[in-house]
Amino acid sequence: MSTEGPLIGCAEAHPNIALVKYWGKRDEKLNLPAVGSISVTLDALTTRTRVTFDPALRRDELRLGDGEAGAARVSVCLDLLREKAGVGWYARVESENDFPTGAGLASSASGFAALVRAADAALGLGLDERELSGIARRGSGSAARSIFGGYVEWPRGERPDGSDSVAHQLLPPGGWPLAVLVAITTRRSKPKGSSEGMKHTARTSPYWEAWVEGQEEDLAAARGAILRRDFQALAEVSERSCLKMHALMMASSPGLLYWNGATVEAIHAIRGLRHEGIPVFFTVDAGPQVKAICLPSFADEVERALRGVGGVLEVIRSGIGDGARVTHAMPVVGD
Ligand code: PMV
Repeated sequence: MSTEGPLIGCAEAHPNIALVKYWGKRDEKLNLPAVGSISVTLDALTTRTRVTFDPALRRDELRLGDGEAGAARVSVCLDLLREKAGVGWYARVESENDFPTGAGLASSASGFAALVRAADAALGLGLDERELSGIARRGSGSAARSIFGGYVEWPRGERPDGSDSVAHQLLPPGGWPLAVLVAITTRRSKPKGSSEGMKHTARTSPYWEAWVEGQEEDLAAARGAILRRDFQALAEVSERSCLKMHALMMASSPGLLYWNGATVEAIHAIRGLRHEGIPVFFTVDAGPQVKAICLPSFADEVERALRGVGGVLEVIRSGIGDGARVTHAMPVVGD
């Protein structure tokens, strides 16, 4: 490898939304989940990242949009890649999202997936997706899934070193083209980050054991529904998993409530549509935004209904997206 000048790599990645939720860790340092999860990757929201390893830098630097941010978790991922490449240089990471950050739209998932892809390219490592997934996981659990496109499972794994807790694809994006409508109900950042929230829940929620015990059954149901393209079965297990996760959080002490009034109104609107025969279901991550998943031919109708819900500020329409990939050049804020 050349040691002459800066090493540059660019990548983009999409957030994913969990249909069977990840909430809780079995190992905080390695970011190993207490439960497995299943997600879909979204094509409409994108993080673009450029990583520059530069011998002139004295520490890792992170620029998110047009502001500087703490690089501690970024450095954890970069250290693992630097060690594999035998490169000691620090890096400047420039990243931007075309959607609101930190409000339950999984910007950390796309962010760490793009980071790891770009850094791998800069260092010329050429790691495979499973290896990248394991490294992205160290930045943010759900980032392990955004390395892949389509329908993705991230198993809990049993090994203490986490080598069996990397994601894999269940179906490619074109394998079952569903539409996802994201109803934005606030642009403010969430009050409690997911790592802190998970720790609090595992320590204080009386439903913790039941949550962990029920997960394998939900995973099997969702996996089967996806492989059979059984919309009704996927709707049932996804709504169940979402409501169980929020019930678990709400029952912790003090209770964690990520929803606002519009979140609840949007959930009722989606259930109302389903009762009228429209194939649609909802899911909500650790934030107040509501995602409606439906067959593409019903997307106009679902979007119209969500726009009519009081407190819904915007509706973003998405399909199922690809995994993290290298891009050639990237204009970043300030260029
Ligand atoms: O990956 P994290 O630490 O941002 O946690 C994600 C947690 C949920 O979004 C609520 C669920 C999930 O599986 O993505």
